[in-house]
Amino acid sequence: MIKLKKKKILLLPGDGIGPEVTDEVKKIINWFNDKKSLGFETDEELVGGCSYDKHGTPITDEVFYKALESGVIMLGAVGGPKWESVEFDKKPERALLKLRKELKLFANLRPAICFKQLVDASTLKPEIISGLDIMIVRELTGGVYFGEPRGIKPIENGERKGVNTHTYTSSEIVRVARIAFDLARKRSNKVISCEKSNVMEAGQLWKEEVQALHDKDYKDVNLDHMLADNCAMQLVRNPKQFDVILTDNLFGDMLSDEASMLTGSLGLLPSASLGAKNKDGDMRAMYEPIHGSAPDIAGKGIANPIASVLSFAMALRYSLDLDKEAEVLEKAVQDVLNDGLRTKDILSEGMKEVSTSQMGDAIISKLQ
Ligand code: IPM
Ligand code: MG
Repeated sequence: MIKLKKKKILLLPGDGIGPEVTDEVKKIINWFNDKKSLGFETDEELVGGCSYDKHGTPITDEVFYKALESGVIMLGAVGGPKWESVEFDKKPERALLKLRKELKLFANLRPAICFKQLVDASTLKPEIISGLDIMIVRELTGGVYFGEPRGIKPIENGERKGVNTHTYTSSEIVRVARIAFDLARKRSNKVISCEKSNVMEAGQLWKEEVQALHDKDYKDVNLDHMLADNCAMQLVRNPKQFDVILTDNLFGDMLSDEASMLTGSLGLLPSASLGAKNKDGDMRAMYEPIHGSAPDIAGKGIANPIASVLSFAMALRYSLDLDKEAEVLEKAVQDVLNDGLRTKDILSEGMKEVSTSQMGDAIISKLQ
């Protein structure tokens, strides 16, 4: 059993804009070390396409081992068109999926919060989204992403068949549902669980297990069930009806992208992928912005580092028990937005455009 080092932070910047936005997180970690003597230890490694280019694999055993012993993993982004023709098992995304699966990071928390300074950045009407604060809890190590059998195989008549399998066991459903209910208790006390129980047996099991857990341990929390397609529609019709959305791996992938656009920009939203707590109360966890590697803007210094910075705030809160520091960092981001500083993706009239590193520096200046 590998001992988890709580204050060890493994930086995996990855591909595209990943390194640029992770640079800003590094500055913030250094600031906390210098000014608050928090004693974070950092290490940095390749993962994704850049690892494939150098080592022929999206994640080496050595890096994977480091991930196993690090209390916090800060991931940038992986993938890009450069690696589109790479064989399936070596694609950059496989590194991410391996980390999620083998580190057992089963609960993916994806907040979608609409900052009041940015209501106009959304394509939806301000009155629909102002004050929006949703938490999506996405199951991350099961479902069709990992189910067996899978693959592409030849069948009769020269045809081929692609197979993926959507499976969930009771315990996989219950452990992630617990996370959703516990979070709801600290928020507006409402969980909406989404599946396709009208067409999928695994969805029916999902619904039954969530309801049973609710009736056993979480009667005080309001629970509703919603079909995932309806949820997709309700998210743009009336998103403020949601507090915590609990859903599976695939629906969570799609619904969280949709929810993120309610807030104006993918560049703002952090995420946390959490495992179970060990007997010391520590857990493995990986934090990453929701946005991808955005190869079209990589290297230009215009990427928005806020999603990465807020991902580090989540690390402070969920892995390092530093709630106060997390609040200070989140407040610094708000202050910078209040000052009218914007990266290109969220620029609007009358605001001042800043580069990736200027945004990072401005956040740090607010921490002082
Ligand atoms: C996400 C991404 C990943 C996923 C990809 C990069 C494998 O879209 O984190 O939402 O599908 O889970
Ligand atoms: Mg996605």
